[in-house]
Amino acid sequence: MKEFKKSYKLDNVCYDIRGPVMEAAERLEKEGHSIIKLNTGNPAHFGFSPPENMKQNIINNMERTEAYVASQGIASAREVILEDFLAKGFSGIDIDDIYLGNGVSELISMAVTALVNGGDEVLIPSPDYPLWTATVTLAGGKAVHYKCDESSDWQPDLKDLESHISDRTRAIVIINPNNPTGAVYSKSVIEGFIALARKYDLILLSDEIYDRILYDGDTHYSPAVLADDVFTITFNGLSKVYLAAGYRSGWMVLTGSRARTRDYREGLGILANMRLCGNTFAQLAIEAGFSEGIAAIGRLIEPAGRLHTQRNAIYDGISKIPGISCVKPKGALYLFPKLDGGQFNISDDEKFVLDFLMEKKILLVHGRGFNWNAPDHFRIVFLPPMEELLHVVEAMGDFLEGYRQK
Ligand SMILES: Cc1ncc(COP(=O)(O)O)c(C=O)c1O
Repeated sequence: MKEFKKSYKLDNVCYDIRGPVMEAAERLEKEGHSIIKLNTGNPAHFGFSPPENMKQNIINNMERTEAYVASQGIASAREVILEDFLAKGFSGIDIDDIYLGNGVSELISMAVTALVNGGDEVLIPSPDYPLWTATVTLAGGKAVHYKCDESSDWQPDLKDLESHISDRTRAIVIINPNNPTGAVYSKSVIEGFIALARKYDLILLSDEIYDRILYDGDTHYSPAVLADDVFTITFNGLSKVYLAAGYRSGWMVLTGSRARTRDYREGLGILANMRLCGNTFAQLAIEAGFSEGIAAIGRLIEPAGRLHTQRNAIYDGISKIPGISCVKPKGALYLFPKLDGGQFNISDDEKFVLDFLMEKKILLVHGRGFNWNAPDHFRIVFLPPMEELLHVVEAMGDFLEGYRQK
């Protein structure tokens, strides 16, 4: 009998954050081992909790969650998002420019699917949050990676980016603050993106899901605030800043000329209508307002706050391990250390994280899972409490002492 095969469309689609190494971790769990899972930025898994006002608004309004709602999202939630964007300096927008979805993930898919024709190219950072590359590939486009420069605190290399622009290029993806590097882009880099978008008439797709998770008083710049003429789609959501990843809620806002984007918006409208609407529970969470959540994340990232302290501890601990170097993250929830290739002779970074999992029962993601092309990095999520992080540091030091790939 013939085998039921997956679609060829998935041939080059890769999302290793929940890939084969995670499957190995699940097998270990079934055998009774307890695994420290540092593969996803999932705050509630580590004792962080969404704002109380969001939870209460869902509980108090359960009866309003039962029906389909407007495909772009309920107006009261989009009003809250609009106010927040206006406070951040976005201009010329109203609630019709805002789309709510089941996480930024769904909106990335909608935004890319509505844009890309077969063979169209989208410029994506390397390393990246791999959903971007996977989505462009699945939509029949070509993900073209531009370099982020580790020796410049992982800032994007705009010369490299420009060298990849062709007549098939449609858009540039910006992930800022960055997952997996924790880089926060300087104002001049954002202005550089804008200049390239103007010069080559490209769309900016700006993933800002970590925009309020900044350390050391760093500032986040949105391209849409610095340039209201360039067509930009800005993405954000509840998963990180509001610590509510399981609510599956995100939003995007379209800025720039409305007239030039009429057809594209029609495409987005078709896709939004096809899936009827985003989940309604999360829309009630947004309706409750952002101020409580903004204050809470503010407390976590200040010098004595839990996220700030944990960022320092993991950075200090991991950087001290012989054979590892690391750029200190300025934002987000991740550390992206570099392994000395010569010392450990690593040719397969996935095998490295698998070996580490088997020996230490700690789950990480290898660097190539983020479309980084050398087998010399891995990512650590620094959400777990301090004792666990210190245990991870000790385990890594101990593991690497004797590690050498054949
Ligand atoms: C940069 C980036 N964008 C998007 C997402 C997906 O977010 P959501 O939970 O809203 O789908 C993540 C999740 O880790 C992310 O790191």
